[in-house]
Amino acid sequence: MARLFFAVWPDSAVRDALAAVAQQFPAGRGRVLPPENLHITLVFLGEVDDDCRAQLVERAAAVRAERFDLGLDHSGWWRRPQVAWLAPSAVPGPMVQLVNALTCIARDCGLRVEERSYRAHLSIARRVSRPPPALAFQPIHWEINEFCLTESVTEQGGARYRICDRWPLTGA
Ligand code: 2AM
Repeated sequence: MARLFFAVWPDSAVRDALAAVAQQFPAGRGRVLPPENLHITLVFLGEVDDDCRAQLVERAAAVRAERFDLGLDHSGWWRRPQVAWLAPSAVPGPMVQLVNALTCIARDCGLRVEERSYRAHLSIARRVSRPPPALAFQPIHWEINEFCLTESVTEQGGARYRICDRWPLTGA
């Protein structure tokens, strides 16, 4: 079994820009994610066995979706998961289509996935128990050319992520 999710991962320039904003998060108000963990989840899959994983990989490889650009332009916070995040004001159509296609694949593979409508966000800090101040930053422009299947490994110091497979988006 492996804990898996579909995600988009930044290149080093975007990661540096994201990490610089994450570093502005007030000290002592939560645990800021290390730069190498910064990503946007498309679909969280949970614990997946080997057969299901093989099906997911085969189906994901056949997805034809367009590349898209994201503008991360504001920060926010959710009380229940205690997470602070950055998000785009506008979620591009191709991103929604990609999430929908991957959600269908996950359901076809028998996985129970998020029922609520997708809210694109990039977590920057966890265990944030009170509303943090909004962060002021220049919008971060991110060109997304591929999506990935990622494994989450829980270690003593927190989660470590391993990109298992990556697939190009069309027009990339
Ligand atoms: P988060 O950043 O909003 O917490 C790896 O854990 C990724 O999967 C994270 O981006 C996390 O989103 C997401 N994730 C973890 N557990 C989840 C769950 N139960 N439902 C939806 N997404 C989850």
